[in-house]
Amino acid sequence: MTQDEQKQAVARAAIDYVEDGAIIGVGTGSTANFFIDELGKVRDRIQGAVASSEATAARLRSHGIRVFDLNEVDSLPVYIDGADEINAQGAMIKGGGAALTREKIVTSAADKFICIADGSKLVDTLGKFPLPVEVIPMSHRVVSRKLAALGGQPTLRMKDGQPLVTDNGCYILDVAGLQIGNPAQFEATVNNIVGVVTVGLFAQRCADVALLGTSEGVKKLVF
Ligand code: A5P
Repeated sequence: MTQDEQKQAVARAAIDYVEDGAIIGVGTGSTANFFIDELGKVRDRIQGAVASSEATAARLRSHGIRVFDLNEVDSLPVYIDGADEINAQGAMIKGGGAALTREKIVTSAADKFICIADGSKLVDTLGKFPLPVEVIPMSHRVVSRKLAALGGQPTLRMKDGQPLVTDNGCYILDVAGLQIGNPAQFEATVNNIVGVVTVGLFAQRCADVALLGTSEGVKKLVF
């Protein structure tokens, strides 16, 4: 199976976690996009969705799925999203699509996090994928120095020659050169740096289930 076929297979498998009548938390990225396309096929079964980015909201609406503001919703049984890396304990690096803050907020509101990813995302140690950190724009240089002191090599994410601006009006630092041995502790350390909005480590709140694409089909890990 190609990487895209794996993404499509896990997106299809995730539909099993969609309860009738529910509002579904939906992530961002290419795998989440495959999931949204599958969700479109069963849209009459659900009330709607909460989106983790403007791009996801637009794609949901294009399928005729009602998009709710998180503040309108009292409970979210499930949040379904991709990952840039996931380890054998269900801890993840996310934010390659710059949506990490809203992803973490919607995750925090959900009863269950179902991670959908192609098999290449499963790693022994998190950190080969540069760790995204969303920061308040005026703080990006001071936060960079603090991340460098922790052993990373931060780079300001750019788009069209300008710093990329997130849906929240913030910047992203991508921190290379890390080997994250204790993800929950490192998440707390980076969260404590003044100027950091969100670190793209999802370790204090891991995935509950991972559906991973393999050449033999979808492999399910329960954490
Ligand atoms: C978006 O900000 C990310 O957290 C995505 O979930 C992550 O980058 C995975 O994206 P793909 O599904 O495109 O690999």
